[in-house]
Amino acid sequence: ASSFASAAIVEHTFNVKNLTVNKLCRNQVITAVNGSLPGPTLRVHEGDTLVVHVFNKSPYNLSIHWHGIFQYLSGWADGPEFATQCPIQPGLSYTYRFNVTGQEGTLWWHAHVGWLRATVYGALIIRPRSGHSFPFPKPHREIPIVLGEWWNANVIDVENQALATGASPNLSDAYTINGHPGRLYPCSSNDTFRLKVVHGKTYLLRIINAALNNQLFFKIANHNLTVVAVDATYTNPYATDVVVVAPGQTTDVLLTTDQMPARYYMAASAYHSVAGVPFPNTTTIGVIAYSGTTPSTPIMPLLPAFNDTPTTHKFFSNITALVSSRFWTPVPREVDERMFITMGMGLSACNLPTCQGPFGLKFAASMNNASFQFPTQLSMLEAFFRDVSGIYTTDFPDNPPLQFDYTNSTNSFNRALLNTTKSTKVKKLKFNSTVEVVLQNTALIGIENHPIHLHGFNFYVLAQGFGNYNPAIDGTKFNFVNPQERNTIGVPVGGWAVIRFRANNPGVWLMHCHLDVHLPWGLATAFVVENGPTAATTLPPPPSDFPKC
Ligand code: C2O
Repeated sequence: ASSFASAAIVEHTFNVKNLTVNKLCRNQVITAVNGSLPGPTLRVHEGDTLVVHVFNKSPYNLSIHWHGIFQYLSGWADGPEFATQCPIQPGLSYTYRFNVTGQEGTLWWHAHVGWLRATVYGALIIRPRSGHSFPFPKPHREIPIVLGEWWNANVIDVENQALATGASPNLSDAYTINGHPGRLYPCSSNDTFRLKVVHGKTYLLRIINAALNNQLFFKIANHNLTVVAVDATYTNPYATDVVVVAPGQTTDVLLTTDQMPARYYMAASAYHSVAGVPFPNTTTIGVIAYSGTTPSTPIMPLLPAFNDTPTTHKFFSNITALVSSRFWTPVPREVDERMFITMGMGLSACNLPTCQGPFGLKFAASMNNASFQFPTQLSMLEAFFRDVSGIYTTDFPDNPPLQFDYTNSTNSFNRALLNTTKSTKVKKLKFNSTVEVVLQNTALIGIENHPIHLHGFNFYVLAQGFGNYNPAIDGTKFNFVNPQERNTIGVPVGGWAVIRFRANNPGVWLMHCHLDVHLPWGLATAFVVENGPTAATTLPPPPSDFPKC
């Protein structure tokens, strides 16, 4: 039983091209991997090497990011365009190759070029290696539930139009479960995800929020769910009737089919923190059918209101790490770098003929008033590796240059504070240094929540709350015992979160808002982590087929 199985190499080919699909009563050209939406589910065992040959047969520049994968010494495979690689140009290919070690659970992959990830995404599932098992009873079946967002338009056009006019992009026309909008939307009764279950079993649902611009609530009528992992880290079992998933996050839940054999809807709906009114088309449904039941109208769950912040906060603050997991490492108690980062919306000058943003300006977003601009000549990782100057600067402002009232948008709606400047400022970190970041949402223009994703690392979520972070009070409430580990944190609307991580992976690692409307506006920065002292802690050279700009 304890036979030693060596790690496998799991190989896939992604053919990325445009195809026409029919959804919501119309044909639409989308870019997709291997002709499917979502794209292929990748399944590996912890310790395996994943090799994905990506052939770009689409008309767009492309790169693929393996969201949540540590990429230890394999930053060349991380994927974000101009952060770790130049994009794969149309007609060209690139092979992503990386180990999947030290993490288990549900992650996902997506395009990391503009808005292409609206249709270029899929699940990445890491199961225990041989000789190991889940820290919960073996489920009868494992089901990926990939939540997405759909536009009745070419998403690249939607994004480009917004960037050209300085205004907000059009809202999406549907949310989806495994690519299906579900029968609440027009022409979608057959385009509805269906899951057949048998009574008295336990299912592992691997829920992924691949939507571009909204946190989602997920429920199943009449059933409770037990959270067992988030962002591919195990948690203490947490029983809940609603799951909250910010864009980029994943949540694994156990579903026990212990209700009256019948049909039930699963549903996801969008949380919307900014507007005072709900926006349309925000609920997607799928059907859970107990076997042996005859077709009948399924029972619909009661979803939280679109602005239900208390439910959001309760869910996120009740998740704790399973410290008996073999992947758990204690929280570092010494901090080498402390950062305070404000995140919010701003405006920048617009010299275009048709500026439709507020005051005739265009929307921008920033961290500490620095609005991040991606390089265009060379990726930051190549600049780091080859010591090329002029691609980025290491003067990311550690402390916000201006003080805000984070909680009151009326008081802080100050034109001087809204102005942001474009730059490519990053933060340099010593190898193996420990970093604590207070992420503070501001209330300029609107009070928002920002799902902040860190590439290359998991971080501990030590504390989170509303209003202005107050070190004297909030700094005494950190959870050092069993804080949840994540790669993406939904920083509370009008609030803050404190995260901590160890910078033990040399390379260039983006940290950005996973609302895709905010990333091109500049809500990002990057950490440049220096090489360690030995060859085993030094970034090796890029592979020979590494894309050129
Ligand atoms: Cu899931 Cu930088 O992204």
